[in-house]
Amino acid sequence: MDRQQHARLDELMRDPYPLYARARRAEGLTYVPEFGAWLVARDADVREVLRRPNVFSSANAVRADATPSAAAQAVLGLGTGARRRVVITADGPAHQRLRTPIVRGLTPARVAAVLPYAAERAAALADAFAAPGRGRRTDVMGAYAMHLPGQVIGHILGFDPADVPLIVRGGHSIERLLFRPLPEDEQIAAAHDMVALQRLLERYVRDRHTAPRDDLCSEMVASLAPDDGEPDEADPADDAGHAAGCPHELTVGQRGELVSHLQNFLLAGHLTTTALIGTTLLHLLRHPAQWKLVCEEPERIPAAIEEAARFDTALQGFRRVTTRAVTLAGTELPAGAEVLVGFGAAGRDEGRYARPDVFDITRTPVARHIAFGLGAHACPGALLAREQLRLTLELFTRRFPGLRLAGDGAAVRMRPTLIHRSPEALYVTW
Ligand code: HEM
Repeated sequence: MDRQQHARLDELMRDPYPLYARARRAEGLTYVPEFGAWLVARDADVREVLRRPNVFSSANAVRADATPSAAAQAVLGLGTGARRRVVITADGPAHQRLRTPIVRGLTPARVAAVLPYAAERAAALADAFAAPGRGRRTDVMGAYAMHLPGQVIGHILGFDPADVPLIVRGGHSIERLLFRPLPEDEQIAAAHDMVALQRLLERYVRDRHTAPRDDLCSEMVASLAPDDGEPDEADPADDAGHAAGCPHELTVGQRGELVSHLQNFLLAGHLTTTALIGTTLLHLLRHPAQWKLVCEEPERIPAAIEEAARFDTALQGFRRVTTRAVTLAGTELPAGAEVLVGFGAAGRDEGRYARPDVFDITRTPVARHIAFGLGAHACPGALLAREQLRLTLELFTRRFPGLRLAGDGAAVRMRPTLIHRSPEALYVTW
């Protein structure tokens, strides 16, 4: 993609809602050249796609918008390589195998167990940005939202808190490298971050294979690379590992798969939650009466979270590819057609929600949104995300009831992305 195409795509992604509205009104599906896909924008059509994974495969769920330069690729060659299919891009039994340990690791009981730690970290982050002498103004993205979800997911996986900054930086670098047109030196720096993250994850994989602990990382390793198991995918490197006569050693293929799996899990878990924390605060603060309402009636916090997820979700769209010819919303799609499943577009469907373009935490009746997906790939981290949002809003409403946007709320710029939509920065004062 050249710079001009990137610029057009950026513009679309910073505010995709007018395009969504046109696509919902249009007959059939709308082909969007900038996305290289048919946009599925109506709530009912999105649900239909998600309910038919046999026809709409996830093989292409996320597609990079940028190709790293040769020099950045050379750096990436030093890593373990994210070459394996991961949970979001797998279908059928291969998908179930990857998804099962994640679902087991994020049960309500597991999420409840991490909440005291999450609350303590949230309070510590607020203590740091609101420390006496630091002034009463901060970028809540950089000072809070970018940190909490990484710390929480790191804790669930059983990672050393000292490694969390590398995980968070690695996640942002991967996103920038694969989705933004970066100058050469920034690409190389981002590639180094990605390699550092992969090496760190590889170290955890080896450690937890040798000496499992009571953490999700150990469970993922045990589940995906059981000691008595056979290599799962054809990979010459696997044969080499087994031929060496070390049945208890992880093969190169198993290590590669586990690193990719962990990397994907980390990205899915922390960048999305960071984004929705920022966007939820943005919309509440753009509507001071609604901020005041949640401060006075904190029992409205869950409704505020659902409204933010409906109104301006972090994961605006993932892709699917048709496995055979199919008609969707009256449009005939051949086999191999790419569709963009508009979670964000569905949240504004006027056929489902009254006044869909209005942010209103008091709306009734509340129709259930699909910001966390539906069906086979529905978000297994939805409860964890909602709980982090809840404890953030409880903390902020209690501690900073006078919170407001510093400067003009209309001037807040959204990041140009469909997968982690959020303010670029969110300056607040109290
Ligand atoms: C505000 C935060 C979040 C949003 C908006 C979100 C949204 C979504 C959506 C829409 C999907 C479905 C994708 C599809 O159908 O292709 C999904 C899948 C997924 N999410 Fe989340 N998510 C969030 C937080 C989390 C968290 C906290 C975790 C983990 C700790 C997580 C882990 C995953 C994983 C692993 C998948 C793939 C599941 C599969 O393919 O079976 N997400 N998420």
